[in-house]
Amino acid sequence: MTETGETNGTASGDRANDEVWIVGATGRVGRGVAARLVARGLTVVPVGRSRERMAAAGAEAGLPADAKAVVADSAERIADEVVRGRPRVVVNTMGDYAVTAPVIARACMSGGGHYVDQANDVVAVEGLLALHDEAVRAGSTLVTGAGFGVLATEALVAKLCEERPVPHRVRVDSVASVDVEAGALGTALATGIVDALVMGGRRYENGRPVAARLGADPRRLIFPDGTSAKSAGAASGELIAAHAASGAPFVTATSALAPSSPLLRAVLPLLGRLLSVPALRRHAVGLLGRVTVNAAPRPRAHSWGHAVVEWPDGTRREGWLRAGEGMGYTADVTATVTELLAGGSSRPGAWTPAAALGPGLAATAGGTFVLDRPSPAPGAPLGDAPGEPQ
Ligand SMILES: NC(=O)c1ccc[n+]([C@@H]2O[C@H](COP(=O)([O-])OP(=O)(O)OC[C@H]3O[C@@H](n4cnc5c(N)ncnc54)[C@H](OP(=O)(O)O)[C@@H]3O)[C@@H](O)[C@H]2O)c1
Repeated sequence: MTETGETNGTASGDRANDEVWIVGATGRVGRGVAARLVARGLTVVPVGRSRERMAAAGAEAGLPADAKAVVADSAERIADEVVRGRPRVVVNTMGDYAVTAPVIARACMSGGGHYVDQANDVVAVEGLLALHDEAVRAGSTLVTGAGFGVLATEALVAKLCEERPVPHRVRVDSVASVDVEAGALGTALATGIVDALVMGGRRYENGRPVAARLGADPRRLIFPDGTSAKSAGAASGELIAAHAASGAPFVTATSALAPSSPLLRAVLPLLGRLLSVPALRRHAVGLLGRVTVNAAPRPRAHSWGHAVVEWPDGTRREGWLRAGEGMGYTADVTATVTELLAGGSSRPGAWTPAAALGPGLAATAGGTFVLDRPSPAPGAPLGDAPGEPQ
């Protein structure tokens, strides 16, 4: 069922109106983005599958009780509503981005509107970037990876490479520190976890993407504030963005979310093959999405992005991006990108966030760059790890 509430925005014409639609406004990221944008005076319209849950989330975000909401329960139905409603920006937080992002982004482009999501998997990020030429023709800006994941490391690489020749090798590490909310994991997060297992690992060698083991190259990172965490190789949007931002032929990316224990890493290839069967994938997403978790405070005060860049002449630069709680920073990044797009500060095309709006975006959203200040033991391998490709 699809029903649309009363509009409180300006009338739709040939171009987009002034509304910002938030798909998944009842979810963790969606609620955070809605509250930030309402506080900044933007015309926010929640989009989701339950009018009651949207009303509650809207009230929490500061929307009036009679505010417009759009009820739609699939990417296709949401796209139909977007084509009819012509919002200026659609923020997509419903997850399963490889599937939902192109459908919703194309609907945005049909009205000259803009699109933002928080995808951080290879298939989704590459899929959205593939819409670049269409977006240029439509005069729309599409931004994927607008969260801690992609922006923290992308912005660092762009900063470290500013006004320098193309480096030889780049490594990025992404360690979000997140407050866990009590309740079901949800299908958005479950889809991300299952798809990461199916995808396995990836790295760039001689300028080409090659398969790698998920969890490869595990290491313990020691952050500038003295805390530490394990991180291991993963295929991610961060890898793609680090490659694009640097042009380096050798690029690796690690994440604290990737499994680093030897036992788990040993069974991952088999698990990935099993989950690539569509019926098993659906079942696993359903099961995992229903798993309930207890509330838990974030393990560290800060989330950290890290990048090491090496040039052929032996020059090496290292930097950190310090952010707060990972989900809050993601909502800050999306809200900042959305506000800039709504205000007309963007180039048409499909981009990762720093490519669209510059590396300074990471600081505007509340992060702090710590450049050329190596950690006490930068990226120490965990012992059983193979080295980086030479
Ligand atoms: N890049 C980053 O650093 C980063 C950081 C955080 C999160 N993320 C990603 O962002 C996404 C959102 O995360 P989250 O924690 O906010 O997830 P969440 O709390 O589960 O929220 C998902 C939202 O999407 C809605 N939704 C799901 N399926 C829908 C459907 N078929 N039709 C309409 N609405 C639907 C849900 O609505 P209901 O209320 O009806 O369930 C909910 O509002 C995830 O993919 C996550 O992996 C990325």
